[in-house]
Amino acid sequence: MTLLEAKDLKAYYITKSYGIERTVHAVDDISLDVNTDEILGIAGESGCGKSTLLRVMFGIIRPPLQLIHGTVAYRSGDRSLDLLSLTDDEYRQIRWKELSYIPQGSMSVLNPLRRVRKTFWDFIDTHRPNTTRREFEDLVTGHLSDLGLPAEVLDAFPHQLSGGMRQRVTIALATILKPRLIFADEPTTALDVIVQSGVIDLLRRIQAEARNSLVIVTHDMGIHANLADRIAIMYAGQIIEEAPAKQIFGNPQHPYTKYLIHSLPRIGDKSHRISSPGRPPSLMVPPKGCRFRDRCEQKRRICREERPLLVSIGENHKVACFLAVKEGAHAS
Ligand SMILES: Nc1ncnc2c1ncn2[C@@H]1O[C@H](COP(=O)(O)OP(=O)(O)O)[C@@H](O)[C@H]1O
Ligand SMILES: [Mg+2]
Repeated sequence: MTLLEAKDLKAYYITKSYGIERTVHAVDDISLDVNTDEILGIAGESGCGKSTLLRVMFGIIRPPLQLIHGTVAYRSGDRSLDLLSLTDDEYRQIRWKELSYIPQGSMSVLNPLRRVRKTFWDFIDTHRPNTTRREFEDLVTGHLSDLGLPAEVLDAFPHQLSGGMRQRVTIALATILKPRLIFADEPTTALDVIVQSGVIDLLRRIQAEARNSLVIVTHDMGIHANLADRIAIMYAGQIIEEAPAKQIFGNPQHPYTKYLIHSLPRIGDKSHRISSPGRPPSLMVPPKGCRFRDRCEQKRRICREERPLLVSIGENHKVACFLAVKEGAHAS
């Protein structure tokens, strides 16, 4: 079942300096659904627009980012709300309680001058104003213990915790009100590999227990392989392939997806890797046609002239590539 439906999103950074206007097409015509009870991964190289897309889907668009086009419909009970046109008041009713967001570099959201307990208290007090101290202690220690975190973290200042523990505490804070949808932006990127796997286990556990939905952004395909049920691959502000994780890794269709998967390190593997030299195009003047074509070994003339749309090529599998689309595929 669809929980959130992002449709035809265009969101650009528009800045002006010395009278010259500069437009970065960070999210450039993206439609993407999030289903109930799933982990959706969003992958792609640094700078392709992942963080921007996540912020738009969460409904926070602040200058210089501007919404040019599109809607984000969130299903709340039997209502459908367009997150991009709610008033601040309306959005306050659901933000953090139903939808939650763990920003990139979020370990820094913990106030360094406050003990963790105080940060949790302020958060709960803001969103559930009539909570008593007793209820607060029960709620917080219960949640921490569900997540396998020691209650002692509450007495610590952030700098007294390791990076991994700080990240877990941030995740605990973002999930304490049991949101139905959690957006997490590179939640493991600053951590070393061992600590990463603990944080991944934590996210998996939260999702499995609450049966809510998690949208995780990371450039790290290894993490997607470990965690995601379904994956959307972004390239230069657009989604170029979307499929269940098994399909993405077992039967990738877009040359860029193939490249991403083959550049994953494999233990003991010394075989030749598919190379895709070059860099993504500028998002200030994105080229007409396929944005990957300059890096693509199989490009044809049409790739220069027309934009390949994201179309269905099988059950739950969509791809935006002229080479991959066979007869009978239909635009979605
Ligand atoms: N505040 C900003 N002003 C102008 N351009 C920005 C801003 N933030 C991000 N961008 C640009 O938008 C594009 C997408 O960035 P981002 O969404 O952060 O990508 P990712 O998360 O995939 O690394 C990049 O080209 C980046 O330089
Ligand atoms: Mg980012």
